[in-house]
Amino acid sequence: MKFFIDTANFSEIKKIIDVFPIDGVTTNPTLISQTGESIQSLIPKICELVQKPVSAEVIETEKDKMYQEALQLSKLHKNVVVKLPLTKDGLAVCRLLKEKEIPTNVTLCFSPLQALRAAQSGATMVSIFVGRLDDIDQSGMQVVADTLEIFSNYSLKTEVLVASIRHQKHILDSALLGTDIVTAPYKVLNQIIQHPLTDIGLKKFLESAQALQKK
Ligand code: G3P
Repeated sequence: MKFFIDTANFSEIKKIIDVFPIDGVTTNPTLISQTGESIQSLIPKICELVQKPVSAEVIETEKDKMYQEALQLSKLHKNVVVKLPLTKDGLAVCRLLKEKEIPTNVTLCFSPLQALRAAQSGATMVSIFVGRLDDIDQSGMQVVADTLEIFSNYSLKTEVLVASIRHQKHILDSALLGTDIVTAPYKVLNQIIQHPLTDIGLKKFLESAQALQKK
């Protein structure tokens, strides 16, 4: 399973890649707006830093304008993955970008049939927002499980990207299901390597080592 970081915060990305292998970055207009920087200046910097796929999202909603914006975003850096909304216009643009071999991340997916149509439109990856489904008392992970089964049934190559991750359990469940990619916030990526017994065990080992040195 590939691990992406879900942030547009440059210092968070820098901190995480110093410690963990990271396979990509996902951003969205909300995350970009929190940085105070423009997408045009920020995305190339992030791409240069990580040298991995970086999702940059369109904000146009009408097909022709969205297509033009998508082409501009893809020119920002060779590692840009154009993020498109799962709408009629978004899927139409997805097909056009597929013809040009421009990678896409179809986002705001909340059902297995939406995911199927995104895959059939040539999406490189499809982002299922599990946390937002859980928020409305629906099972985000069930949508992921059903999507994986459908993609397997038809040998679809689109990668299932689990997004809107709220906690470690989402990541564990994603791995158990055989998800292709998870994208998680900085905080959750750090949490997954922590365990209280690791800290207690290390403390005890250090105490033993110190006691030995005193002898
Ligand atoms: O980047 C898309 C997704 O991960 C957003 O998550 O927490 O806003 O539901 P959230």
